[in-house]
Amino acid sequence: MMAASIALRISVVQGDITKQEVDAIVNAANESLLGGGGVDGAIHRAAGPELLAECRALGGCPTGQAKITRGYRLRARHVIHTVGPVWHGGGRNEDALLASCYRRSLEIARDHALASIAFPAISTGVFGYPLARATGIAIETVWQFLAGEPSISQVNFVCFGAETETLYRRELQSRA
Ligand code: AR6
Repeated sequence: MMAASIALRISVVQGDITKQEVDAIVNAANESLLGGGGVDGAIHRAAGPELLAECRALGGCPTGQAKITRGYRLRARHVIHTVGPVWHGGGRNEDALLASCYRRSLEIARDHALASIAFPAISTGVFGYPLARATGIAIETVWQFLAGEPSISQVNFVCFGAETETLYRRELQSRA
């Protein structure tokens, strides 16, 4: 697939992921799937207590994997909960696990016939992943997936701050 047609399906936006009007937003959760701080806390607050009730029934999620729920009070119909790796310096398979989070989230979206999805910068907050390195993995993994999967028409990278947005735009421009 042509680089331009892939780039047209990717947007970099700055703001709060809970406000996204897409089929699914991705949550950067932990293995318990029972909530936490950061984007996880924001998503649970905005979705309401029904989200936690559904998450309790999921029995957690291993690092690098993902599980889907409804979106309840969110504008997004679904939340795809994925568990990024904690950064330990790079020697514990962190890059492959982070790439797996993006890939598994997209596979679940495709399997549920969802066309639009919004990602936060998974693992780059509490989990300590270096932002530039994580950005490269996020863009590369999504790009490769979209190249082989026409059913996903829109991927939004939601950046919580100007530094993140600049890094995402730079990484994307180096490919388009
Ligand atoms: N919208 C978009 N991005 C956000 C928002 C928001 N509302 N809030 C924060 N971010 P983090 P992690 C950005 O820490 O590193 C939780 O306690 C934030 O600036 O939310 O994967 C979980 O329960 C950063 O760039 O997730 C886990 O225990 C990015 O989202 C743990 O934190 C990810 O930061 C997961 O840590």
